[in-house]
Amino acid sequence: MIQNIDKILDEARQFSAGTREEIEQFRIKYLGKKGILSDLFSIFKEVPADQKKEMGKKINELKQFVAERIETLLSNLSDENDSSDSADLTLPGPPMQPGARHPISVVRNQIIEIFTSLGYNISEGPEIEDDWHVFSALNFPPEHPARDMQDTFFIEKDPDILLRTHTSSVQVRVMEKEQPPIRTISPGRVFRNEAISARAHCIFHQVEGLYIDENVSFADLKQTLLYFAREMFGKEVEIRLRPSYFPFTEPSAEMDISCQICGGRGCNVCKYTGWLEILGCGMVDPNVLEYNNIDSKKYTGFAFGMGIERVAMLKYQVKDLRLYFENDVRFLEQFRAAY
Ligand code: DAH
Repeated sequence: MIQNIDKILDEARQFSAGTREEIEQFRIKYLGKKGILSDLFSIFKEVPADQKKEMGKKINELKQFVAERIETLLSNLSDENDSSDSADLTLPGPPMQPGARHPISVVRNQIIEIFTSLGYNISEGPEIEDDWHVFSALNFPPEHPARDMQDTFFIEKDPDILLRTHTSSVQVRVMEKEQPPIRTISPGRVFRNEAISARAHCIFHQVEGLYIDENVSFADLKQTLLYFAREMFGKEVEIRLRPSYFPFTEPSAEMDISCQICGGRGCNVCKYTGWLEILGCGMVDPNVLEYNNIDSKKYTGFAFGMGIERVAMLKYQVKDLRLYFENDVRFLEQFRAAY
């Protein structure tokens, strides 16, 4: 029996393999469930006690040799595969996952495209602003609640330096530099001291619009906003203007669009009113023109401001604002088809 094991060991020593399959065959032959070693162990149980020691040693030697041999052969194999000589240049590359635009960027770009096609240019202003550009030049009275710490993030007090609460501040920046005709839109980030929830966030995005020229009327405003709504939401959309109040416009209005989900018949999205609020607007208050050295006898204008998240919510029916800020790839990927 002992000689037999020596013979098996010699045979195993002869083995040298080229491929992974050959090594696997070798392993099964010796170490497999029905392999040589398993047979040897069954025989081992039967051998007389005085031979057990020597035979056990031989079997273990064989087992250890085979195991080490397999390991060496396998590691040679993977070394070879790693060498550049054996790289398969015909293999296709790893798939590239193209990125998708964030829904807020998609909607912002659409708004920009609609208004630039009407001849509006794009203007920008700083996010860190002073009281004048955010409030005073826009005709906010000194006691207005927006000037309160509860609504606005102040960076410094006296003189007040703050994070802009709306992009209407860019109106002021444009009027300071330019005389009419002015036709501009100002997309940007705004900040409000709000607790974060599904319906409110302390950072969001707005687009402000401003048109100042001779003889600009409320009818022009209405027609511009109707054009915008139809481009954005489709030809069937209806708009309505409700009287409202903003310090910087007179008269002021809020615009609703007909609910796209129920077509105006009433559903839980529009709270059974058939209408959804989308923006604020109005005729620029003559005080605002005068504060900014524009002759209010000669010129009139309109302005409007909308929240980009709000438009995106209406367009995509995503009602939890926080999703727009978390940048969860599973959310963002769903907008791959948008441009
Ligand atoms: N600034 C307003 C806000 O943040 C939105 C707005 C309303 C802008 C009326 C305007 C406007 O230009 O005319 O709520």
